[in-house]
Amino acid sequence: MILVIDFGSQFTQLVARRVRELSVYSEIVPFKNGKEKILELKKQGKLSGVIFSGGPHSVYEENAPKIDINIEELGVPLLGICYGLQLINYMLGGKVSPAKNREYGFEKIKIENNINKNNPLFNLIGREENIVWMSHGDQIQELSSKLTIDSLTRNGVISSFHHNELPIFGLQFHPEVEHSLCGKEIIKHFVEEICQDKKSWDSSSQIENAVKSIRETVDKEGKDTKVICALSGGVDSCVAAVLAQKAVGDRLLCLFINNGLLRKNEYNEVLDRFKKDLNLNVKGVDASELFLGRLAGVQDPEQKRKIIGNTFIDVFEAETKEIPNAKFLVQGTLYPDVIESISLHGTSVTIKTHHNVGGLPEKMKFKLIEPLRELFKDEVRRLGAEMGIPQDMLARHPFPGPGLGIRVLGEVTKERLNILREADAIFIEELKKQNHYHSTWQAFVVLLPVNSVGVMGDGRTYESVAAIRCVSATDGMTADWTKLPYDFLAHVSSRIINEVKGINRVVYDISTKPPATIEWE
Ligand code: XMP
Repeated sequence: MILVIDFGSQFTQLVARRVRELSVYSEIVPFKNGKEKILELKKQGKLSGVIFSGGPHSVYEENAPKIDINIEELGVPLLGICYGLQLINYMLGGKVSPAKNREYGFEKIKIENNINKNNPLFNLIGREENIVWMSHGDQIQELSSKLTIDSLTRNGVISSFHHNELPIFGLQFHPEVEHSLCGKEIIKHFVEEICQDKKSWDSSSQIENAVKSIRETVDKEGKDTKVICALSGGVDSCVAAVLAQKAVGDRLLCLFINNGLLRKNEYNEVLDRFKKDLNLNVKGVDASELFLGRLAGVQDPEQKRKIIGNTFIDVFEAETKEIPNAKFLVQGTLYPDVIESISLHGTSVTIKTHHNVGGLPEKMKFKLIEPLRELFKDEVRRLGAEMGIPQDMLARHPFPGPGLGIRVLGEVTKERLNILREADAIFIEELKKQNHYHSTWQAFVVLLPVNSVGVMGDGRTYESVAAIRCVSATDGMTADWTKLPYDFLAHVSSRIINEVKGINRVVYDISTKPPATIEWE
């Protein structure tokens, strides 16, 4: 296993994903727990290599993240990326200083020919110049005498090195980022050739292990023990449920709750597909009146989220109370939700209270089964596909727990929900028809609490404004607005204004995240 020590880079997760794409297991641990984790894995004989991530700090800063180990006694290969490279140099007695020419974005590095031959990390690449992606404010000022330079940037900055005797390497650029053309090859070479880690992380072994482990856990509590799963309609809970069903069959009871905030026809269609396509033992619970009743008159976004979250818990508790021997709850928690990443995005400020089915309270006394805890979203999709879940169910855009409740801005009423549903259905239908749906992360319509004047026929209208939101992202932490073609936008706008009574103006949201967020509330 390759252990990634997180020093706070926004790309740390990407490093682990790149390793996993090679079918080799990789985990992330914050630098504070790095030493402990290394010792534990070494004791278990599981550690095959270590990667130090980048990070926003300078090694000389007072509280700069460090790790208290002797890297020359690590016993496995080590690769340092960006801050990781600087830290290795510093730990081996070299010096780092603020860069005269800060290098951000694309940068050409030159792999020094004569040295290159001896560097096992580069010797497969065979190109003298490589475009790489840099983002650093510090640079190596004095290289440790134990290290040898492998490449320089245009500005003469040391962009990679290797240790003279040990398998220790440093890269000033980010090989994990798509824009570093040779990046994937370098990581592959580090993992496969230098760490000699075997391919053992594939979907079929993951399915087998997960099913076996769920079955053993549940059976320990008795053969009539029941397992509950709250389906959200999204990919994660769906894949988790199918895994659990493989393990315990119909002892798995799924609930799909209609909170009245789902999209057009979603409740019936999704329920039907859970039953027919996936053979899940699922009960639909229509609690829409309860949710909408509690939301009546509420405008504040955070209050709306709380009401929706609490009502969900009430409904779930009422439904599961009567099920005999229900001891376990299956949840689709993913790896990004569980890693205690120290990345810059990991701010302690609550920007929005996310309500997930994962937010069920501890007092419910269920033991948790979280078969996807070690996986990234794309791995979950792969697993789902391997278990036969239809592609269109796996490729659905993310949908927030509070649903349309946070897309009808201001007070949520049945009438406004219906207006939004119609507009949203048109937008999604067109995206699918014109092949834009799968190339975007998320797309939806938001109904604004604003009326504007319009003219239809000979009459004046004073109706709602709808905003179209369509974003490209890889994990939803950052996002860019999608540059949809003008004629496509024109067509969607025209259809919405003509077909949806109550909307007379459509605007396109061109904000990035950050500083905006994907949802509007
Ligand atoms: P934001 O709006 O925070 O959204 O940029 C990032 C991603 O999270 C989804 N989202 C939520 N998901 N409960 C959820 O389960 C929530 O309360 C929630 N709020 C936002 C959002 O749709 C996007 O994919």
